[in-house]
Amino acid sequence: MPKLIVVTREGTEQAVEGEAGLSVMEVIRDHGFDELLALCGGCCSCATCHIHVDPAFADKLPPMSEDENDLLDSSDHRTDQSRLSCQIPFAEELDGLRVTIAPED
Ligand code: FES
Repeated sequence: MPKLIVVTREGTEQAVEGEAGLSVMEVIRDHGFDELLALCGGCCSCATCHIHVDPAFADKLPPMSEDENDLLDSSDHRTDQSRLSCQIPFAEELDGLRVTIAPED
């Protein structure tokens, strides 16, 4: 299974295995990182699944929808690496993807 490297808000880094087809949000949540709230359950309406993605993988990610872009705009912690993790399907080609859970708004 492809690996996802999760960096918590405190800077702890942990590699976890994720099933391809789940969203990155689901992989993070299923491994017990409860600081990623993901309150809306993945329907792109809360922005509490905000992560910062390793720029090395930028061209392997699906394009950002207008809704995702608008939601990220509501965050004080938006950067060029910001994405909503529920909008990224995990996949073999993302093996080794490193994501950092964004600070809480
Ligand atoms: S879980 Fe709500 S926007 Fe991603």
